Amino acid sequence: MTLGNNEKKMLRCMRSKENHIWTLEEILEITKWKDQVHVAGAGKSLDEHEFVETTERHLKFITLGSEGLNALENELLEKRIWEWILSQKEKNRTMNELFKAGFERHEAGPGIGLLKSIGVSIEKGIFTFVNEEEITIKISERVDFIKKISMGKLDYNDLDKGLIEHFSGRKNLINIEENIVREWKLTEKGINISENELEEVQLIGEITPEFLQNEGWKNASYKEFDINAETPIPVGGRPHPMQSLIERIRSVFLEMVFSEIEGNYVQSAGWNMDALFIPQSHPARTMQDTFYLDEPEKIDIPEEMLELWASVHENGHDTGSLGWGSKFDKEEAKKGLLRTHTTVNTVKYIAENPVSPSRVFGIGRVFRQETIDRTHLPEFHQIEGIIHEPNASLPMLISTLKTFYSKMGYPNVRVRPAYFPYTEPSVEVEVYWRGKWLELGGAGIFRPEVTEPLGSEWPVCAWGMGLERLAMLVLELDDIRELYQPDLERLSRMPIL
Ligand code: PHE
Repeated sequence: MTLGNNEKKMLRCMRSKENHIWTLEEILEITKWKDQVHVAGAGKSLDEHEFVETTERHLKFITLGSEGLNALENELLEKRIWEWILSQKEKNRTMNELFKAGFERHEAGPGIGLLKSIGVSIEKGIFTFVNEEEITIKISERVDFIKKISMGKLDYNDLDKGLIEHFSGRKNLINIEENIVREWKLTEKGINISENELEEVQLIGEITPEFLQNEGWKNASYKEFDINAETPIPVGGRPHPMQSLIERIRSVFLEMVFSEIEGNYVQSAGWNMDALFIPQSHPARTMQDTFYLDEPEKIDIPEEMLELWASVHENGHDTGSLGWGSKFDKEEAKKGLLRTHTTVNTVKYIAENPVSPSRVFGIGRVFRQETIDRTHLPEFHQIEGIIHEPNASLPMLISTLKTFYSKMGYPNVRVRPAYFPYTEPSVEVEVYWRGKWLELGGAGIFRPEVTEPLGSEWPVCAWGMGLERLAMLVLELDDIRELYQPDLERLSRMPIL
């Protein structure tokens, strides 16, 4: 049971007279409350808790209307006309004479109407009547009624029903007001509740550090806190959702004991493609797909490296492959471009660390000549990684990716056969979301054509996943462009990752 302080006070006051029926006025007086709203509120909740019993009486009162006040000052219309009629000789009791006497048309009409209903009639233009006394009595009853209700609010039940009915048919003479009058009486429960339960308590609404530093909080009572109440959404700084997502991916890979690597946006076609055994005639290498640069137009690559790639591409070198069988163009390999995938970073990392095992990842921006639409942007990010060690294998690759996506919150992962020029086997990775399998990226084991020229003798698990795809999933977006529109309002409403 939780009684508020008002309820407690009203109950305490009512307990001063156990068998009393309390009126509103009495409660206002004893509680010293100024506003009857307090009594109504506290009374209602005490009644709900069964500490008091409420009786409600619906009362009707009659008061004087604006025309009634007028009648009080100038006499009732029918009385004035009646007195005029009585003062006239019989032949003068006509409408015309009535007008001459100063009665206006708007009074004369209704006035005669009123008199007709109590015994006056018009015969050959002359007002006539049979029983003068009866008419006079009826009129004085009406006059008395108006006088009586002018004294103050009168109970409907104390007045003549016929007269109430008569006057309520006349415009603005009387008003009928309806009121609910409540009275309260203690119940057994209200009488028996112990005094300590009715002590007023100070309710703590705000908790301050000072308040918590003392012992007082232990026994304090607290204002109820409505956790469903509407609250303003605090606006403050927050990282861009993409930045938060990147941080989360970073911490997942770090947790899985991977190290982070980085690389430049500007790369040579050699490292971006030739090192990956992408044939120089591959459609992805055309200007339609790749941003080639005027500055730097060419990037130097060590001659030995170019020699090796030429040999691998032309005849497989000694990797056991036949190569592509066509002439390798070293100048093509030197072309400057904006990296089209972050696989260039992992390949370079292997070249720099060919004989030490490694698990590395990187999250970076890549560039492709794409037409912008709901699912494509010319600049986007990839989540790249490799496991380079003697026992690297496809199952190891798949379980690593499954672990990663589970940690991100998507435990349903599957791979399907795919093709990349630089991996064998090759897979595409999909996660299950809202009843659909969504493709998030590619993976595979680097081909010997890739690893051997770099000086590595171990298999390499490699993958490259789309970051924006994942972001759309996590943030529940269906248009990739929403991620980069500077709409602060929208961005601030995106979930915090
Ligand atoms: N580089 C590929 C892409 O851009 C992804 C990939 C990376 C595939 C590594 C296999 C191995 O889609």
